[in-house]
Amino acid sequence: MSNQTLTITDNRTGKAYTLPIEHDSIRATDLRQIKVADDDPGLCTYDPGFVNTAACKSSITYIDGDKGILEYRGYPIEQLAETCTFLEVAYLLHNGELPARQQLDDFVHQVTHHTILHENVKQFIAGFRYDAHPMGMFVSTVAALSTFYPEAKNIHDAAIRRKQFFRLVAKVPTIGAFTYRHNIGMPYAYPDNDLSYTGNFLNMMFRKTEGKYKPNPVMERALDILFILHADHEQNCSTTAMRSVGSANTDPYSSLAAAAAALYGPLHGGANEAVLKMLRSIGSKDRIPEYVQRVKAGDVRLMGFGHRVYKNYDPRARIIKRTADQVFEVTGRNPLIDIAVELERIALEDDYFIKRKLYPNVDFYSGIIYEAMGLPMDMFTVMFAIPRTAGWLTHYEEMLVDADQKIARPKQLYLGAARRNFVPMDRR
Ligand code: CMC
Repeated sequence: MSNQTLTITDNRTGKAYTLPIEHDSIRATDLRQIKVADDDPGLCTYDPGFVNTAACKSSITYIDGDKGILEYRGYPIEQLAETCTFLEVAYLLHNGELPARQQLDDFVHQVTHHTILHENVKQFIAGFRYDAHPMGMFVSTVAALSTFYPEAKNIHDAAIRRKQFFRLVAKVPTIGAFTYRHNIGMPYAYPDNDLSYTGNFLNMMFRKTEGKYKPNPVMERALDILFILHADHEQNCSTTAMRSVGSANTDPYSSLAAAAAALYGPLHGGANEAVLKMLRSIGSKDRIPEYVQRVKAGDVRLMGFGHRVYKNYDPRARIIKRTADQVFEVTGRNPLIDIAVELERIALEDDYFIKRKLYPNVDFYSGIIYEAMGLPMDMFTVMFAIPRTAGWLTHYEEMLVDADQKIARPKQLYLGAARRNFVPMDRR
């Protein structure tokens, strides 16, 4: 018999069960045979937050949280960030292999020719209050796109799915930029298809009256790096939302809106905004020890620190820290970086953080760069959602073609009242 098995003795009955182990896991449904009586539903696992439960097999992104390793399709994030454009990485994620020149050109062409939004979307965005949060507008606008492309409901048609992939990857920067222009009351700047993905995004954000916007190459490249680092991160909260909603065979726009809504939360993609607020509230280096004391007392969290998976330095944070220096050469130094660097130094020498293996994560430095680029704080999570769209859609695709997948429907441990009879109002 193979030694790839697990033997469990149920001390309630004295019975032993041998379960197969595959990929260092057992099948949760194999536990169902472990029961004390025939009508007992059998054993299950209790795992709030899915801390130790694999909900799918995936071949997209690999993370070794103890060693601080992140790879897309086997390629180290450091190498991709050093050499690729964001769209090259989006191709890699979606297709599994790096593109040859012609393949990349075709892919870029497809994305570039889907950047324009239906004119009605402008009116739709105009309906939001002048100070609406960009993520609220982003989530709603992505969901609304499902009404513009009703054929997207044919989720079992691979060609239709592929078209929605191009549409979404192409249109999310336009939506993001339009939400920003809405907030500042400037006319929307239309996409410029002569520019790169990130160059065009800068154009739609910052173009004023000039006929042709020329993106600063340092900013364009920095944005490519930031987008690459945010493109995917395996089964995080928003990707899990994408897969769960998609598992009901929901169209990609509505599923992606759900994923973006999950990203919006301050414990997930909303953390970059929370970091900036935290650094501003600290205000100066001499007030850091006082803040760290409050964190240790449990009053506040050190935002941008800690991660469910990384128990080491998040490799993305290291690359972002380096990129910040390049951006500051163009924009001037953001003084918050000095507070952040000192905060990191103090935290990494403190027992509280050492013992809990809390290190800077991707959000610790990204907001500082975005702020230096001239973006307001509440745009930061949109800057996360734009590149993550490629990752979400890749997971959606993987989930839909995976014969093992079923509609997401976890169990519960019911601990409520036992069956009892209804009590009429006058006797309560
Ligand atoms: N500041 C202070 N203490 C912390 C922090 C933090 N940022 N993160 C975790 N801890 C403590 C926590 O209090 C707990 O201590 P104890 O064992 O004494 O109760 C211990 O560390 C383990 O924390 P946890 O909450 O069980 O860890 P988790 O895996 O459930 O949470 C996390 C992960 C990211 C939600 C959490 O670390 C956190 O809230 N960080 C701040 C928010 C943040 O930066 N989020 C961005 C994550 S990276 C981008 C993304 O992918 O979304």
